[in-house]
Amino acid sequence: TSAPLVLGIESTCDETGVAFVRGTDLLGDVTASSMDQHARYGGIIPEIASRAHLESFLPTLQAAADKAHVNVEDVDAIAVAAGPGLVGSLSVGHAAAKALALALDKPLYGVNHVIGHLAVDALVDGPLPERFIGLIVSGGHSNLVLVRDIARDITELGGTLDDAAGEAFDKVGRLLNTPYPGGPHVDRMAREGNPDAIRFPRGLAAGKDKHRHRYNFSFSGLKTAVARYVESIESAGGEVPATDICAGFSAAVNDSLTAKAVQAALDHDCSTIIVGGGFSANSHLRSLLAERAAAAGLEVRMPPLKLCTDNGAQIAAIGAALVAAGVAPSSPTFSPDSGMS
Ligand code: KG4
Ligand code: ZN
Repeated sequence: TSAPLVLGIESTCDETGVAFVRGTDLLGDVTASSMDQHARYGGIIPEIASRAHLESFLPTLQAAADKAHVNVEDVDAIAVAAGPGLVGSLSVGHAAAKALALALDKPLYGVNHVIGHLAVDALVDGPLPERFIGLIVSGGHSNLVLVRDIARDITELGGTLDDAAGEAFDKVGRLLNTPYPGGPHVDRMAREGNPDAIRFPRGLAAGKDKHRHRYNFSFSGLKTAVARYVESIESAGGEVPATDICAGFSAAVNDSLTAKAVQAALDHDCSTIIVGGGFSANSHLRSLLAERAAAAGLEVRMPPLKLCTDNGAQIAAIGAALVAAGVAPSSPTFSPDSGMS
């Protein structure tokens, strides 16, 4: 007999994602994004995102079912991202998921979107290791977690005290007048600059704080340092060295992310680090983590980029893991938890 067919629904932010998974087989997934509608505002507008989910949900569901060659009526379980995210966006996915669960009389699982960024790796790289460190980095999250069982044993080790890594890149992009989101532009400019030309501060430097902030990140002081630097050059009438600024800034962010991920793995006897989230597209993160992990004898797993950005497969993957582990479904009255951690 084949594994249960699980439908995953993602609607935490600006992506409407739907996927069908059987065990660790991704049968089909489709993602619709409202990013184009937000770009001109320089940030996500929650009302626009909610409306876009409402408009996109049914076509996306149908497209995913077609792609997976399944009928929606044949699903065995439904998983929906319960948070963290925008409450309006989450509510659209919840309403849709609850209506489907009721109509099809199937169990419904409200799952943690952030953990989905790790669970999705099983769909491409095979079964997850017995224990591993997860580094989840995007415009909305920067988290370090210890996973001993993706279905029931996850410990949050640390997170950002202020901005997420992608958010910090986007803010530096804004300072340097790149289009929104600035992350990829800052990454590209960083590759052309000299990372040693300007030394920016490392917030909560690795190794410095042995206890409270050992696994936490802080990027807002760094962003302020970049802003001051740009101001000082501009007020002196000089030309802003954008590529060197990006290179120095990127070095600071990625130094923290990679040092703390490796430290967490060594501290917790893990031989694997799994990375998820849209910021994993960052070229410097990829190269520096590969280098530092190899030096420490650690393996790095990273899903392909398409599955690192928000999508339904990450939600279906964790749903499938919960079903396989025999975890009880959520109560029919559960509601979105926008601040879920
Ligand atoms: O996961 P994602 O698509 O959306 C969420 O934030 O949930 O991540 C997008 C974030 C944005 O902040 C974007 O600027 C950043 O990841 N990003 C990058 C790169 N590609 C995307 N930041 C730095 N370098 C990149 N190459
Ligand atoms: Zn995400």
